[in-house]
Amino acid sequence: MNTPELLRTHRLVPVVVLDDAASAEPLADALATGGLPIAEVTFRTPAAAEAIARMAAHGGVTVGAGTVTTPDQVDAAVRAGARFVVSPGFSAAVVRRCQEHGIFVLPGASTATEVMTAIEAGVTVLKFFPAGSSGGAAAVSALSAPFRQVSFVPTGGIDADSAAEYLALPSVLAVGGSWMVPRAAIAAGEFDRVADLVAASVAAVAR
Ligand code: 3PG
Repeated sequence: MNTPELLRTHRLVPVVVLDDAASAEPLADALATGGLPIAEVTFRTPAAAEAIARMAAHGGVTVGAGTVTTPDQVDAAVRAGARFVVSPGFSAAVVRRCQEHGIFVLPGASTATEVMTAIEAGVTVLKFFPAGSSGGAAAVSALSAPFRQVSFVPTGGIDADSAAEYLALPSVLAVGGSWMVPRAAIAAGEFDRVADLVAASVAAVAR
């Protein structure tokens, strides 16, 4: 399955911050157990690249790199075995490097100008970020009107309750967020709790 198909199938992207790469395997197991075999591991901690490599080698989940803001991080993500790259904003250099590697890129956009810049770069699946404080589902709906060819993955400030409003929009492929993979729970080794949170979110989306 390619990344857009994966997003359309699962409709949720867990955004992960890992403080210790040793959490990679138990987290992958918790995600798979919870029924959501996908993860965006953010380049916000020094453990990110190793965690991506360990999750990719472990199997069972499709792992991507998040918070990628430089072409060098794109290279590191690809080297680690990431299957997709997510960026909080739109950087032509980041997108170009992803296109050179042939890796799926999900850059951020929250304005019509940013959407147009992305379309010019050949990108039509965008992370709407930060979703909650950029106008929420109403803003995604308004942005979708002039850009029928664009799909969005709203992320930022979303939780199990607000996810449904975004997912009801035809232009929304999936929503992302950290609510089902709390950093503190991962750091504390509470992987059963993570699996339960993931399963509850999967069940909520299925309703
Ligand atoms: C991201 O990088 O996508 C966001 O920080 C996730 O946002 P959230 O923590 O509000 O879900």
